[in-house]
Amino acid sequence: MKTSFLLTLLLAAAVCCTHGIEEVKDSNGNPVKIGAKYFIQPVKTDTNNGGGLVPAAINILPFCPLGITQTLLPYQPGLPVSFEYYPVFVGTDYISTSTSINIKFESDVWPVCNELSKLWAVDVSSSAAKEPAIIIGGERTAQNSSFKIEEATGANTYKLTTSYGTVGTIPGAWLSAPQLIVTNDVAKTLFVKFVKVNVDAATTATTSSSRLEKLGLRMFPFY
Ligand SMILES: *[C@@H]1O[C@H](CO)[C@@H](O)[C@H](O)[C@H]1NC(C)=O
Repeated sequence: MKTSFLLTLLLAAAVCCTHGIEEVKDSNGNPVKIGAKYFIQPVKTDTNNGGGLVPAAINILPFCPLGITQTLLPYQPGLPVSFEYYPVFVGTDYISTSTSINIKFESDVWPVCNELSKLWAVDVSSSAAKEPAIIIGGERTAQNSSFKIEEATGANTYKLTTSYGTVGTIPGAWLSAPQLIVTNDVAKTLFVKFVKVNVDAATTATTSSSRLEKLGLRMFPFY
């Protein structure tokens, strides 16, 4: 009696939690790997130039912690990120939808706010903000650094969610470049693709895209 009740519970749990979970795919349709580098690129539309995501000052002083904005430079791929599960999952090398992850910027060039981590977090410290900013400087174990990737309409297209709402954008303080916030307004949802960083291309220093990357880094953190 007790055993069958337990079995029912276990079965119910298995049905509940595997349903709707899929491997996240990069822009080429390959599974997104734990710890590998990807550009998170907003989907290009009539009103969105498709530039990548970059760390950027969202306050003038003090400007740490940094926020995240979409660069106004078209063709600039942004700064790479990597994904890790938290709590840690064993037995897979790949990232799934609807599962808690940390998102971290990956860059050797990081001239400011070095005392903070490079993990994304929802700034819930100022509870007054209805649409809290996404900032850089999270803690792995904190709920405010927990994100999920969810499928969206379109091939290999996703949105990011948190327990506080969905990741979206508002015009930021700096030239109105779209700034990442958490919102419950679906009109502001940010739709993205994950573009795998091509290590070979990154080491070929003379392409026009790497020149733009250097230009972008020179402007950091004021895009
Ligand atoms: C996130 O949560 C932790 C633990 O509650 C807290 O110490 C930290 O200040 C929060 N960070 C932000 C950015 O809200």
